[in-house]
Amino acid sequence: MNIVILTGSNRKNATSTRLGEYAVEIIKSHGHQVSLFNLYEKPLPFYSPDEKQGTDENLANLNSVMLAADAIILSTPEYHGSISGVLKNALDHLSQAHFSGKPVLSISSAGGAVGVSSLTQLQTMVRNLHGINAPEWISIGGAQRRRFEATFDGYEEYEGSQDVEERVQRVLGSFLNLAQTLTAARNAL
Ligand SMILES: Cc1cc2nc3c(=O)[nH]c(=O)nc-3n(C[C@H](O)[C@H](O)[C@H](O)COP(=O)(O)O)c2cc1C
Repeated sequence: MNIVILTGSNRKNATSTRLGEYAVEIIKSHGHQVSLFNLYEKPLPFYSPDEKQGTDENLANLNSVMLAADAIILSTPEYHGSISGVLKNALDHLSQAHFSGKPVLSISSAGGAVGVSSLTQLQTMVRNLHGINAPEWISIGGAQRRRFEATFDGYEEYEGSQDVEERVQRVLGSFLNLAQTLTAARNAL
């Protein structure tokens, strides 16, 4: 399978982006193709219904990788009880053509213990884009974010890191199983 991870932070060392990078490692270890589209490194123009923006290089790149994806992971920081502006802007550039019938996993990083609010809203957007929400999601919040901070350098620095890693690996494993079933069904159509 070909999986795309879209990371929705405009912060260089964002934990939501590093969580996405960790997901890349896990997905590769399962033998799948995976690419990460980092909205900090590849910023998009503000969406405008009035303008044709197809000449923007980052936007053209996003369009092609999302069309080619069999499954999608959306990663966001929790901002004011919702998703980030840059991720919402990216989703406004996209449509059902990129999501329809594809499994989508939502993941978030929050200052509070759990980022339920951003994840719930992300799943609402996925449903409106006709993607298929995975039954689980991944939230890292509060101290759990330490595993994904730029200063993290191994297990000793944060005793809870193994629990976080195991949870991320378990959810990604079940997402990949779902994605394989749905991809086989789509390919059989
Ligand atoms: C503008 C802004 C709004 C935020 N709003 C919330 C919030 O509503 N709930 C929360 O738990 N954390 C909130 N936070 C904290 C972030 O969710 C937290 O720092 C998160 O780890 C950021 O993700 P990042 O490491 O990917 O940048 C907010 C942070 C910023 C900068």
